[in-house]
Parts: sequence; structure tokens; C-alpha cells
Amino acid sequence: MSTAVNVLRAQSVPARYDTTSRVFHWLTVVLVLSAAMLGLWIAHAEPGEAIKMTLYNLHESIGVTIGLVTLARLIWRLGHPAPPLPADLPDALKLAARLNHGAFYLWLLVMPVLGFIATNAWGFPLTWFGLVPLPDPVGKNVPLAEMVTFAHRLMAWSLIGMIVLHVSAALWHQFVRRDGTLRKML
Ligand code: HEM
Ligand code: HEM
Repeated sequence: MSTAVNVLRAQSVPARYDTTSRVFHWLTVVLVLSAAMLGLWIAHAEPGEAIKMTLYNLHESIGVTIGLVTLARLIWRLGHPAPPLPADLPDALKLAARLNHGAFYLWLLVMPVLGFIATNAWGFPLTWFGLVPLPDPVGKNVPLAEMVTFAHRLMAWSLIGMIVLHVSAALWHQFVRRDGTLRKML
């Protein structure tokens, strides 16, 4: 009898992501929210000159770290597939979830590259957290800097939109559909 109950329970509780994938996920959340807040602060809240260079350095160093963490996360992900989506989820929503997750990976790889090119092209090579000088493969080039900064901003705002969508979906799964999706990542 208890075996039958356990089998039923195992079927109704979805498998979780492995520990490393969960650590990658929540580390990414902290880093991305920090980078986004610093980026918005620099671009829109007119920080004083005294603090501005520190904010740039923090934003850019965290951004580069996100690129590296995402690369490591993707390599890990190749050998550790995600647990399945709820079987009764409509196909359109399954597709939306996959597109959303795929776009996150793409954005979190491309945005740091654009930001890195931007800061070099503006003439401000980056020293990672003030400790490790990074190469400057581009050199000062203002027209290039304007172009890649524009692309970086477009990607930043679309990333914010994707995060709103993703978190809304997580809350919908948790509180409306109650299908255990959030638990897979906790
Ligand atoms: C995934 C990582 C990153 C995220 C989420 C991010 C996010 C942002 C955001 C939200 C903004 C403000 C957009 C606006 O103008 O409204 C911004 C601006 C900027 N970011 Fe990033 N960023 C990332 C990585 C980087 C990296 C690695 C660098 C450079 C090494 C960088 C350099 C810049 C620069 C130069 C600006 C323009 C700031 C200004 O207006 O002067 N970013 N970023
Ligand atoms: C910066 C914000 C975030 C980013 C960039 C992000 C990114 C991702 C990515 C890339 C995946 C797919 C993992 C994979 O299958 O390889 C994922 C899954 C997931 N995320 Fe987030 N996430 C963010 C915030 C959050 C928050 C705040 C929550 C909870 C409220 C959350 C809940 C989940 C859940 C439950 C899954 C698993 C979905 C499923 O089973 O298909 N995420 N996230």
C-alpha cells in the first residue's frame, strides 16, 4: 500500500533541476539584477562624477562575470538536461517557455560582448573589479561605440521585458496552476 502511495507521489511531484543547475540559476539572478540596477542607475539617475567610475567598473565587471558564468552554465547544461515541462501544458506554452529560456542564454552571452566592445570603443578599457586588466582588442572608435551601446541598451530593455514575463510565468505556475514548476528550481 505504502509503495503504491510512494509511486503515485513520485509521479505527481516533478523532478527538480540538479543542485549545480539551481546554484547557476540563482547566482545568475543575483548578478543580472545587480548589473541591471547599476546600468539603469548610470544611464538614468545622473550619479555624481566621484562615484560614476566606480559604478561603471562594478556594472562592467559583474557583466563580464555573467558572460563567463553563462558559458559555464551552458556547458554544464549540455550534460544535464532540464526536467520535463508539465505534460498537460499546452504546446504553445511549452514553446514559449523554451524560447524564453533559450533567449536568456543568448542575451546573457551577447550583451556582455557588446558592453565590452562599447567600453573599449569609448576609450575606457576595463580592469575587472579593479584587479585584472582585460585586453582592449578594439581601440577607441566613437562611431562603433555609439552603435554597440545602442544595441546593448536595446538588449537590456528586452531582457527586462523577458524577466518580467519569466517571473510572471513562474508565479502563474505556482499560484494559479499549482503544478510544482517553481519547486523544480528551489
Ligand atoms: C548581462 C550583462 C549586462 C546587463 C544585464 C547590462 C545591463 C545594462 C543596462 C540595464 C544598461 C542601461 C541601459 C539604458 O541606457 O537604459 C546598461 C548600460 C551600459 N552597459 Fe551594460 N549590462 C551588462 C553587461 C555589460 C558589460 C559586460 C559591459 C562592459 C564591459 C557593459 C557596459 C555598459 C555601458 C558602457 C552602458 C552605457 C551606460 C551609459 O549610458 O553611459 N554592460 N547595461
Ligand atoms: C534575472 C532573472 C532570471 C533569469 C535570467 C532566469 C533564467 C532562467 C533560465 C535560463 C531558465 C532555464 C533553465 C534551463 O532549463 O536551462 C530558468 C528556469 C526557471 N526559472 Fe528563472 N530566471 C530568472 C529569475 C527567476 C525568478 C525570480 C524565478 C522565481 C520566481 C524563476 C523561476 C524559474 C523556474 C521555476 C524555472 C524552471 C522552469 C521550467 O521548469 O521549465 N526565475 N530561469
